Amino acid sequence: MIYTLLYHSVATAPLSDLEVRALVVRSSQRNARRGITGLLLYGRHQHVPTAPGAFVQWIEGPEAAVRDLYSRIQADPRHMDVECLASGPVAETSRQPGRLFPSWHMESETMVDLPATLEGFQRYVREQRSAGEGPWAAAA
Ligand SMILES: Cc1cc2nc3c(=O)[nH]c(=O)nc-3n(C[C@H](O)[C@H](O)[C@H](O)COP(=O)(O)O)c2cc1C
Repeated sequence: MIYTLLYHSVATAPLSDLEVRALVVRSSQRNARRGITGLLLYGRHQHVPTAPGAFVQWIEGPEAAVRDLYSRIQADPRHMDVECLASGPVAETSRQPGRLFPSWHMESETMVDLPATLEGFQRYVREQRSAGEGPWAAAA
């Protein structure tokens, strides 16, 4: 059984691509030690580059590790208004792998319109998988 969590938050200041990349590289090193995988989406306002962006992050792994990470993330001053959109256990069976991103200890993508719900996030993942571009081509 693994545990999954999806949240939304608002950046306190705009992040450059390099800052997002640095956050994800450090996160993925820590996540690898804790059995966590997932995806971080950073939303940028296309027409207002100075406006702070927003995040949507999907986290999956052992329940205690996911809960511990989520409470550290909630306290991070780089964002605010952290709101959980969905969370819960997912059974791993031979036909249904529990993780959406078994090979990504954390990946990121920058986009304009962030998904606002679990259904929207799942639709986005399906679309990216079938398009199979960039990191999605190699995603399990
Ligand atoms: C949007 C966002 C996503 C983050 N995602 C992760 C993550 O997946 N893994 C992680 O270890 N830290 C992540 N962090 C960083 C944590 O909030 C925290 O800084 C880090 O885990 C170090 O915690 P510590 O300072 O309590 O040791 C994220 C931070 C932000 C703002």
